[in-house]
Amino acid sequence: MIRIVSQIVSLVLLMVILTEGNPQQVIDASGQCHCPCECSAQHRPLFQVSARGSAATGRNASTSTSSRRLKIGAFNIKTFGRSKMSKPGVPQRIKQIIERYDVILVQEILDRSGESVRQLHRMLSRTYEFVISDRLGRGRYKEQYAFFYRTDRVSLLNFHQSTDREDAFEREPFSVLVAPKQINNVKLALIGFHAKPTDAVKEIGRLADVIGEVRRQFGADVEPIVLGDLNADCDYADRRRRLRAGDALTTNTSYVWLIGDDVDTTTRDSTSCAYDRCVLWLLVVVVVAVVVVVVVMCGGLRRERSG
Ligand SMILES: *[C@@H]1O[C@H](CO)[C@@H](O)[C@H](O)[C@H]1NC(C)=O
Ligand SMILES: *[C@@H]1O[C@H](CO)[C@@H](O)[C@H](O)[C@H]1NC(C)=O
Repeated sequence: MIRIVSQIVSLVLLMVILTEGNPQQVIDASGQCHCPCECSAQHRPLFQVSARGSAATGRNASTSTSSRRLKIGAFNIKTFGRSKMSKPGVPQRIKQIIERYDVILVQEILDRSGESVRQLHRMLSRTYEFVISDRLGRGRYKEQYAFFYRTDRVSLLNFHQSTDREDAFEREPFSVLVAPKQINNVKLALIGFHAKPTDAVKEIGRLADVIGEVRRQFGADVEPIVLGDLNADCDYADRRRRLRAGDALTTNTSYVWLIGDDVDTTTRDSTSCAYDRCVLWLLVVVVVAVVVVVVVMCGGLRRERSG
């Protein structure tokens, strides 16, 4: 009974916050993001999961929420490499965006030398560290994922590069296991993934298997969250296409898509597609809610315009 009540409470919280998640407020709170230069983002970093803990540890339940709220984002920085890092103003913009988050997945890292990522890392506040994936892709064109994280906010416990024996993925998911420092007994398995647009339905269809793999790798007590540019909308993998393919993440109510199908996660004026997503296993909400109080917030950021 208690469990059921907790579930209901967590879902209500989820809904309340989702409704309240006025994108304008989110961005205004963290300062204007007008950019005098060409904006560097292909897609804007757009979601924030905030886990607010209290009673679990028996510690002071009224601890300020900001210290117990973890901001997680995913950012596809189109063709991130030396050329982008040498454009005036662009690295500073990227730095500003990354530093809004406690943990952020960066996608489309192309620079084979690794210098662009190191350069970016040197610009960030000293509390940030990063972990980077293999160079991934079937052909000559390869991308890397990187997770930047604040060491005063989370501990990096592990990471995992999916191997994909059946070659289902162009860019195999890359996962990290982090433990928020201000919330006891919570381990988040963040599964970063950038889908190949033309295979997006097929690739998204395999993500439930990846969640299983990651739980075998990291332990059954972790809370998996899939995040990244899943290309999960418009001509690639909109809801209709995913349903027709019987996609597990879409049809199984154990998964919660924090970013709705009607959200525009792209920066270009001519496109309005919810390519970038954050998918929780409902257990993330339920299990964590039983222990602490979890509020999951989806706050889309306002379009980051150039000019
Ligand atoms: C709990 O935190 C509040 C706000 O910081 C503080 O006023 C209060 O004294 C704390 N209570 C305990 C028992 O530590
Ligand atoms: C839905 O997903 C959960 C979690 O992976 C799984 O335990 C359950 O069996 C799935 N339900 C169906 C109907 O496939």
